[in-house]
Parts: sequence; structure tokens; C-alpha cells
Amino acid sequence: MASLLHPFTNLTRLRQNGPTVIARGSGVFVYGADGKDYLEAMGGLWCTALGWGEEELVEAAAQQMRKLSFQHIFGGKSHEPAIELAEALKELAPFPVGKVFFANSGSEANDSQIKFMWYAANARGHTARKKIIARDRAYHGVTLASASLTGLGAFHKSFDLPFDFAVRAECPHYYRGARDGESQEAYCARLAADLETTIQKEGPDTIAAMFAEAVMGAGGAIVPPRGYFEAISKVLARYEIPLVDDEVICGFGRTGNWFGCETFNFQPDSMSIAKALSSAYLPISAVMLSPELTEIIEEEATRIGGLWHAFTYSAHPVAAAVALKTIEIYRRRDIVGHVRKVAPAFQARLTALAGHPLVGEANGVGLIGGIELVADKKSRRNFEAAKGVAAACARYCESEGVIVRALQDDRIAFCPPLVISEAEVGELFDRFERALARTLDWVKAEGLLAS
Ligand SMILES: Cc1ncc(COP(=O)(O)O)c(C=O)c1O
Repeated sequence: MASLLHPFTNLTRLRQNGPTVIARGSGVFVYGADGKDYLEAMGGLWCTALGWGEEELVEAAAQQMRKLSFQHIFGGKSHEPAIELAEALKELAPFPVGKVFFANSGSEANDSQIKFMWYAANARGHTARKKIIARDRAYHGVTLASASLTGLGAFHKSFDLPFDFAVRAECPHYYRGARDGESQEAYCARLAADLETTIQKEGPDTIAAMFAEAVMGAGGAIVPPRGYFEAISKVLARYEIPLVDDEVICGFGRTGNWFGCETFNFQPDSMSIAKALSSAYLPISAVMLSPELTEIIEEEATRIGGLWHAFTYSAHPVAAAVALKTIEIYRRRDIVGHVRKVAPAFQARLTALAGHPLVGEANGVGLIGGIELVADKKSRRNFEAAKGVAAACARYCESEGVIVRALQDDRIAFCPPLVISEAEVGELFDRFERALARTLDWVKAEGLLAS
């Protein structure tokens, strides 16, 4: 603790209480250095889809390390795991893909996307197309460019961000954003009209792309209303603005289909994937580009003498071999089918939480969900942020042996490994409900609840 800079952490509390040191994992559980078990209801950071201790992935990594521990793909070099993985991803993709570019994290994938969108626009002679639309509460990463698209103030403060290419659109959160009596359909139509107004105000010829997550993760595990993506896609198509689908969380079965865009019925021009791509056994991410984007990028690279963008570890052979094995396991064990089988039990326990005095909203899809803790259910009034009610709940959760994630506006996210069984779903929510009861006692004792 004296040497390690802990990110995304309340440092005052860390100094007082020290860290929770996790020593090992097995299935959907991780174990503290003291042996305490925690049901990992966040799959780490929305990523450990196959759970901990998956021997086949360990073996795939070891074999590849022995055979070829490193090979870059610069200057015409290549290797089998990278080629095979690109082919496997093209085959899986729910939209036509020309080529696949590899990076090492979601942030790097999204930074690469931003550069590719500018590159393609420049190649087409659309040199004024520099702005990128992203939504309030979006999370696209923390590197300079991706953090600029992230729509959460905490990631900008004191970092001199966002850069001014980022243009904001509304977050599609029906619970918070809908007007009294407004139907989901009318709400979606209004957001689409607002997007169009923004595009016209900024100037359609100045916009290079729009980024969106199917379900917003770190912004609050917010599920968009049905019809939202259909409505905004029409607007984007009208102005020939490419849609970059950030599937870093939603990809590989999370929402009950291989990709979130299938669940929410939209067709992207480009897609970012990471996390479950290797079940987080090794860092790897990818950008999947439409054939049109691929063609224009390759033409430009040919014209100017090369595509001068990549990372040393782009398509690292060990990470690529692990990702290939991960995809093979997803197929062989029908992980998407498993998600569909356990999701009803998960969603039933999640949405039942809406009956609790602290829970304003409980919503989810597949094996992802979010709840919002409120001071007054009737008026939907939030607690004062400084009280840290969701953070307190997350600490009670830890004490009850379940790991969740506290997010902005007292939202709490659930995103367990996809391999979770129905019995483990029951255990997850039993533990969570005990923690929620303790949170309620604490909130009452502090006098924070509306009377
Ligand atoms: C939707 C989304 N995009 C991008 C990222 C950034 O990924 P990384 O932390 O690997 O840079 C995340 C991380 O949680 C994410 O949820």
C-alpha cells in the first residue's frame, strides 16, 4: 500500500482501512488472503466471463508461450494466432467486417477507433469531420482521447479533459430522463430528435462518428429503452455519420446474444471489443471495421506509405491464443445458450429488488443489471452524493461476501461471470439482500431516508 498507487479508489478510506487483498479465484468466487470467499458479482471488472481457474485457458497460454512467446505484426510479419483470431472474429461479427485491428485494452481500442475515424474522413477529403458524439454517462476509457468521450465528470476533473472534439448527446435513461407520462416510444423519438438538433447545430460536415455502448456500463449499468438504437441509427444514417459500437462490456454473450447490438437491434460501422474476448485471462482488445472503412483506411495507408498506428503488443501471440481458446469454449459450451437459460432467474431476483424501500430502479438484460438507490422513491430524489450510500452498500456487500460495484448517483452494478449457475444466482442475491438490509438500517440511523 505504501508503494502502490490504487486507481478508482477513495484514498482516504484506503489509508484508514487498507486494501482487500484477493489471493485466488475459482469459478464465480474469489478468496481473500484471509480465506474469506466472495461471490464476484462483477466478473472482476465486467470481464471474467468464464470465471476463475479455467484450466483450458491456462494451458492455451502456456502452450503458446512455449511455442512463440512473442511476435509483432509490424513490417509484414505475422503469426498464426493473430490470423486465426481475426478470422474467427470476422465470422462471429454481427455486421459485415473487412479487417480486424488488435490492441490491448478497451481504451486503446477506442483511441484507435477515434484515429481511424479521422483517418477515414481525411482520406475521403472530409477534413472538417473531427467531432465525435458520445453520450452523457458513457464510459469509453481513460486514455486522453477515449476519456474525452467518457461522459462522467470524475474522469475529466484535474486532467484538463475533455478535449474539444467531444460532443455530448443525452444518456438514454428512461427512469431519469422521461417526462411525466412519456411513453418509451415517445422518449426515444425525443432523444433522436435532440440528437438531430445537436448534429445540425454542430454542423453535420464537422462530425466524424458517434460512439455508443449498447448497455452503458460504468455510467450506471443503464439499459436503453427498446427502440432507442433504431431511432438514433436513422438520424446517423441521414447524415452519413458512422456508429462506433463499444462492445467492451456487452460483447460475447453478456446481453443474451453474442453482441449487444443484436439484442438492441442496430448495425454498427465499427466495433470495439475487449474484456470477455479473452475472459480477462490476458489483456487483448480489437477494433472490427466495416469493409468500407477497411478499404478507405488501406487506400490512405497505401497512399501515404503505411498505416502508422499500432502497439508493440498489438495481436500479442499469447493473448491471441487465449482469445481463440476463449471463443472456442464459448461455442463448445454454448455460453450464449447458458446465459439465456440463467438470465430469467437473474433478472427476476434483480427486478424484485424494486420493491425494497431504498431501490428506485432495478433494470437489466441478460446477465447485466443495475439498481439505483434513492432517498425518496416517490419523487425519485437521490441521496446527497457526499453521503456515499451506494459505496456504503458495496462495503456491506463485501462484508456479506459478494462483490458489486458502486457507481455515480448511487447506482450499483451486477455483471457476474457468464458461467454462473442458477443456484449461484440465488446465492448472489441472498448475500446482496442481506447487505441491502444493513444499508437500510444505516441510512435510517443516519436520518437520510425521506419520512
Ligand atoms: C464500454 C467500455 N469501453 C471501454 C472501456 C475501457 O477499457 P479498459 O479499462 O480496458 O481500457 C471500458 C472499461 O470498463 C468499458 O466498460
